[in-house]
Amino acid sequence: MAGVCVIGLQWGDEAKGKLVDLLTGQFEIVVRYQGGANAGHTVVSEGKTYKLHQIPSGVLTPGVMNVVGPGVVLNPKVMIEEMDCLIAQGVRFESNLMLSDRAHVVLPWHMAEDQAMDKNTADGESIGTTLRGIGPCYRDKVGRSYAVRLGDLYRDSFRERIACIVDAKKKVLAGLNGGSTLELDPDAIFAEYNKYAERLSPYVADTTAFLLDAVEQGKRLLFEGAQGALLDVDHGTYPFVTSSNSSGVGVSAGSGVPGRWIEKVIGVIKAYTTRVGGGPFPTELKDDVGNHIRERGREYGTTTGRPRRCGWFDAVAARYTARLSGVDALSLMMMDVLCELPEINICVAYEIDGRRTSQFPSHVDDLRRAKPVYETLPGWREDVSQVRRMEDFPRNARAYINRISELLGRPVEVVSVGPDRQQTIFATPTLVRQ
Ligand code: IMP
Repeated sequence: MAGVCVIGLQWGDEAKGKLVDLLTGQFEIVVRYQGGANAGHTVVSEGKTYKLHQIPSGVLTPGVMNVVGPGVVLNPKVMIEEMDCLIAQGVRFESNLMLSDRAHVVLPWHMAEDQAMDKNTADGESIGTTLRGIGPCYRDKVGRSYAVRLGDLYRDSFRERIACIVDAKKKVLAGLNGGSTLELDPDAIFAEYNKYAERLSPYVADTTAFLLDAVEQGKRLLFEGAQGALLDVDHGTYPFVTSSNSSGVGVSAGSGVPGRWIEKVIGVIKAYTTRVGGGPFPTELKDDVGNHIRERGREYGTTTGRPRRCGWFDAVAARYTARLSGVDALSLMMMDVLCELPEINICVAYEIDGRRTSQFPSHVDDLRRAKPVYETLPGWREDVSQVRRMEDFPRNARAYINRISELLGRPVEVVSVGPDRQQTIFATPTLVRQ
């Protein structure tokens, strides 16, 4: 057994990057396996803040190999900008970054399609995508005819392939809502992507073969999920989801590493809930408490800067995604944000059309009608950002942590009380096997 997975159990932004960064030193390889430049992982290390979008958070730890797997949709321009930004901050990765030649490439038309089609046309509510071209790129991947994989950039046929796709995409773009003003010049696109290919060439490899060799040799892998399980394209709040399997079920498909190599899944949750973009959110707070959480928790998107919608912890949703993702243990983040509140609610069930249920609805229309049933716990009012041991939490904070653990049926093994590495409490001395 070789792999540990870190999976967000809400609608993303659970501070997974911080946990991955803390754990990285115990692994030889960190793997990103789904999503793309829609993700934003903030890692604070030795006083410096790093913002990562496509590069695994392990890049900040020397000696760890970082793999971007086949399930990721890669924007080469953004990748190069991210690399340059890291280099400017003194991070080196010449020999510890690998990009799968099977990963699909985000091209200029994908952003234009995202812009024009970000509507759930059935009811007119916008999905509120990050406009990074993620959905259209995954659509082309599944459609196959107009897709480009990273490995294609190095083939003689690439120029011809671009010319063919541009022909087809011009027609697609012209037919979209109001059309698109994007000018597509195949020669210019070829030249631009050729430049990117040259810069990325030292990193491009068959990562599937590399990872299979690694697990068979007993190497330790850390899988870094992006987004959160409620945004999973198959199991989330469809259609208000991302386009990849962001729950635990996506690890094998996106990386090429079979489930038999996974030894532990850590589910990451915030002490409250946030969501960015459209879609139902039963515990959303559109009042002063919601604003308080947003400001205290600095709840603004890493990638888009959008203010995040904030609400109470939803144990119905998180229990569902913990089970779906095969979670063994929980990492509870942002506990410091809830202090100052006199009372704190946890959603323990939904009421849908007058019937109480603890099952997460499979259809978004039912979720829209779900009214949260709350259990109210007393707040703790004390600043917990300096707490370093479980037993030093105020009694009410400990009761809150225990209740979440009970409702989700899993132990809380990590609690985070601030962005710094030191602001982390490990309930068990060995979160992962040494
Ligand atoms: P897309 O992934 O850009 O297609 O966006 C689809 C939905 O997922 C939108 O509601 C986005 O706001 C949301 N989303 C995508 N990436 C993230 C993320 O990293 N954190 C939180 N929400 C995200």
